[in-house]
Amino acid sequence: MCGIVGYLGTKEAYPILINGLKRLEYRGYDSAGLAIHNGNSIVHYKKKGKVSKLEQEAEGQPKDGNLGIAHTRWATHGEPNDVNSHPHASQSGRFFMIHNGIIENYDAIKEALIDRGFSFQSDTDTEVLVNLIEDIFMEGALSLEKAVQAALNQVSGAYAIAIIDNEEPDMMVVARLGSPLVVGLDNGNFYVASDATPFVEYTKKAVYLEDGEMAVLRRNQTISVFNIESNTTIEPYIHQLTLDIEQIEKGGYEHFMLKEIYEQSRSIYDSLRGRLLPDEGKVIMRGVSEYKERFLKADRIIVVACGTSWHAGLVAEYIFEELARIPVEVEYASEFRYRNPIISEKDVVIAISQSGETADTLAAIKMAKQKGATIFGVCNIVGSSIARETHAGAFTHAGPEIGVASTKAFTSQVAVLALMAIKIGYERGSLAKTEYIQYLHELNRIPDMVEEMLSSNDDNLLGIAKTYASASNFLYLGRGVNFPVALEGALKLKEISYIHAEGYPAAEMKHGPIALIDENMPVVIIAQKNANYEKVVSNAQEVKARKGKIIAIVSPEDTEMRKIADHAIEVPETFELLSPLLTTIPLQMLSYYIAVIRGCDVDQPRNLAKSVTVE
Ligand code: F6R
Repeated sequence: MCGIVGYLGTKEAYPILINGLKRLEYRGYDSAGLAIHNGNSIVHYKKKGKVSKLEQEAEGQPKDGNLGIAHTRWATHGEPNDVNSHPHASQSGRFFMIHNGIIENYDAIKEALIDRGFSFQSDTDTEVLVNLIEDIFMEGALSLEKAVQAALNQVSGAYAIAIIDNEEPDMMVVARLGSPLVVGLDNGNFYVASDATPFVEYTKKAVYLEDGEMAVLRRNQTISVFNIESNTTIEPYIHQLTLDIEQIEKGGYEHFMLKEIYEQSRSIYDSLRGRLLPDEGKVIMRGVSEYKERFLKADRIIVVACGTSWHAGLVAEYIFEELARIPVEVEYASEFRYRNPIISEKDVVIAISQSGETADTLAAIKMAKQKGATIFGVCNIVGSSIARETHAGAFTHAGPEIGVASTKAFTSQVAVLALMAIKIGYERGSLAKTEYIQYLHELNRIPDMVEEMLSSNDDNLLGIAKTYASASNFLYLGRGVNFPVALEGALKLKEISYIHAEGYPAAEMKHGPIALIDENMPVVIIAQKNANYEKVVSNAQEVKARKGKIIAIVSPEDTEMRKIADHAIEVPETFELLSPLLTTIPLQMLSYYIAVIRGCDVDQPRNLAKSVTVE
């Protein structure tokens, strides 16, 4: 959470910083700020609210210079206001710093600094850190980098920081532990950011700092990287980025979320491309093959994830148990990591994460790794912390997801996990060859089915959205592999439209939630023709009998459910275990339209951030 941007080079820093902040706004948008060195001194602006507010604040003000840092905040310590916004200056005004993360022992350090005569303007841990750096510097550290290094060796917690010095117009110091930080390199120009999106149009060369590393950037020199604790010099590995500018722009859509929903035919295809070869009867997944024996002999699979990725894990539980006959446990990473769980060397832990930076998921896999489990990652972001912490993995290749509500990342996760389950099931002998081949062909059809579905359901969904946009509550019901889809549908609605929504296994309704049903309660029921169909129809009858309004996801040839439902949304039929790849999509669209009708900020819903790097 929080996005950081920095620039040092020959260009004007301001437009680079502002554009960079806009690209990183998905990481938090409580406040924004920047500091620019104009060659003589540092000017800075900060403002509560989005980056556009900061732009208004800086309009007409001096902001020339080609060294600068900027920050977009998701508040942790201290309410979102101008004072708590970053950058934070040290007491003397010499150093300016931006920070993503949490300094856990900031209270004790703050007290010690107060005893030494420091006073503080903000409630933030960041202001404490920049003053600790100043204190060490003033005590006689030889250089800013030495002061930063000494300070970082005293703090615990997580950080990605960038700091500049009023007296040094040609230098920036950056460091990371637990929060991401990448430096773009372009012939002596340096771009610093939480991910590569702010500088992708300037350079494709990037150095991802590892945990515990810091770097000193000097104008017209090469980057120098070293380990914060041991002080050893590190030869940086220069990544070649494959990200394109088109991938991170809206491309004519009103919102990123809508664009990403419509991209799903392509993103699912990309997740399977080169891996799924139905005509040859093959699945090529290097990470799975490298750890084949571990999967074949696994006592169980433990999935750790959060939010939407956790829902993808629940879908995977049904698929793996059915096709590969391996017991699966799906854990909230935040609970798992604090529970002292029983983990053995025969367990395979699958970490699912779009961002690859979710703090709880990262901590959960570190713990499981220490206990000897094999860790497999299903991440979207190449080079992310979780991807690097795992033994092996399969990237989802969904492309950048910028809308805060996750859409295409979910379906890509499910596609990758389904492919893994099919491969492992076949190799374990629990999936017969004919079924295996059928699954490969069916999975291969999914991108086209998604394409067809997205081009036909629009008006119907918009009409339903208009009818229920002012509802206060929604229920989502599903059975079997579509129960997690009900959870995901409810999460999408609440996070972007602020309507209270709950997902339930359809049969659980009569154990409590049925008490909520009256003529004002819209109930979304996933009711495709499959093994559970008759039972779901009975559950729908129970809703109808209490005058609830039924919005049903149905198969094209359905007749029974349509008779009961107030609204029907057709979704093509596929194998039941693959159906979440299709049934999820109209639920995303419904949430999107409802949020737009209610005037909500679809891409940046209140209180949220895309990358949850705090616990
Ligand atoms: C919901 C959403 C969140 C994320 C969760 C995990 O739309 O986006 O619930 O799914 O914060 O994030 P990742 O997948 O990045 O670990």
